Amino acid sequence: MLLHTIKEVREQIKEWKKQGLTVGLVPTMGALHNGHKSLIEKSVEKCDKTVVSVFVNPIQFCPGEDLDKYPRTLDADNKLCDEIGADIVFAPNPKEMYGEGHILSNDFLTYVIPPYFYTDKLCGKSRVGHFDGVCTVVNKLFNIVQPDFAFFGKKDMQQLIILKKMVQDLNIPVEIIPCPIVREESGLALSSRNKYLTEQGKINALALSKLLFNIKACYNKGVVDTKYLGETAYSFLNDNHSLEYLEFRDKDTLEEKTIADDNTVVFIAARVENVRLIDNIELR
Ligand code: PAF
Repeated sequence: MLLHTIKEVREQIKEWKKQGLTVGLVPTMGALHNGHKSLIEKSVEKCDKTVVSVFVNPIQFCPGEDLDKYPRTLDADNKLCDEIGADIVFAPNPKEMYGEGHILSNDFLTYVIPPYFYTDKLCGKSRVGHFDGVCTVVNKLFNIVQPDFAFFGKKDMQQLIILKKMVQDLNIPVEIIPCPIVREESGLALSSRNKYLTEQGKINALALSKLLFNIKACYNKGVVDTKYLGETAYSFLNDNHSLEYLEFRDKDTLEEKTIADDNTVVFIAARVENVRLIDNIELR
């Protein structure tokens, strides 16, 4: 069932809650791929009812980013959700979510601002305000859908950690279910932004997952000095990659690690053909 208004979604949710059914939410920006598919399948399996939101959220894009060209494929997304067994696809427009005039600055809109310690690093460093936009829209979706469970991919690990913190700090009655990264057979982590890459770009992009797998292999052999582990990675990169960061951080607190352990995540962001790609690996 494709719904565009908050009112329609609320009415349906009210009905389900009356019947004592559990509700799962899979928040997305559309352009659904097999990574999203795995989240929706998990929700359908775990919950009585599943809502997939499809909303390219303008307030999480920074000036100069790809808001206008972000792929929008609602018909195909809706069809896929239907096939997997989702019950509602909620696809509001920006006016429905943010009101008349689309006044999106925080002078005019109540934002949910996650702690600076979590947002001043990794993606938050170059994408200033991005996580404020993510937390604000996800909080709104939680209030609209009132899910028992919400499903997020580990591909956006910093986002996942920040959203878990938001739920904990604000006592939001939802359980966040982290879901594994889905990769192509080649190792490339699935992302809607892979659509911007040429075939050669996709090959060049493999360096990111390759170097992460290599770091994990070294760690498994007993290497724990993150400076050394980081240095091994540079041999995978060349002029086709513009590295933004490669960092070792704690899975819960995002603190930097000098000695890797089982709670360490290795985060990478790099541009290939000027497309900004992110990936990560858990060392455990
Ligand atoms: O991960 C995403 O696609 C988005 O950041 C999310 C969680 C749907 C919020 O717009």
